[in-house]
Amino acid sequence: MERTFIMLKPDAVQRGLIGEIISRFERRGLKLVGMRFMHVPKSLAEEHYAVHKERPFYNGLIEYITSGPVVAMVWEGPNAIAAARSTMGATNPVNAAPGTIRADFGMEIGRNLVHGSDGNETAAFEIGLWFGDETPSWDRDTDRWILE
Ligand code: RTP
Ligand code: MG
Repeated sequence: MERTFIMLKPDAVQRGLIGEIISRFERRGLKLVGMRFMHVPKSLAEEHYAVHKERPFYNGLIEYITSGPVVAMVWEGPNAIAAARSTMGATNPVNAAPGTIRADFGMEIGRNLVHGSDGNETAAFEIGLWFGDETPSWDRDTDRWILE
């Protein structure tokens, strides 16, 4: 079973899309194992996006992520990382497939609503960074109707 870190960015919260976006992960069959509504301290945003430190968009990205509250989550399932990213769509909403979150609600890369871990190592790092070890799993009674 795999886990991924998902964050609803400040634009998703401000636009009243929390429920809409969470429901897409939920109804797909991913299992929620951690969730926090929170304001992001600048130091946490900088650690989270440390890989992008040298990129031209870095300062704007930190400003964006700390501009209002976010919803930080951990979702679990087989191939959870890839499943979540396909539900999210391409990084730039203009290239995202219709039906994905970024295509259905986004216009520009700098306001793309949602973050998802991009690999196993990133997921482990991000889950540890945002949640420590406070993400116990749970038995979902519908699992046998979602997972073979
Ligand atoms: P994320 O990390 O947020 O899930 O997005 P991603 O993997 O699809 O994209 P990544 O390359 O990791 O970029 C992280 C976030 O930085 C912002 N960005 N802005 N203005 C730009 O050219 C630009 N490029 C990236 C986006 O918010 C992107 O999600
Ligand atoms: Mg990324």
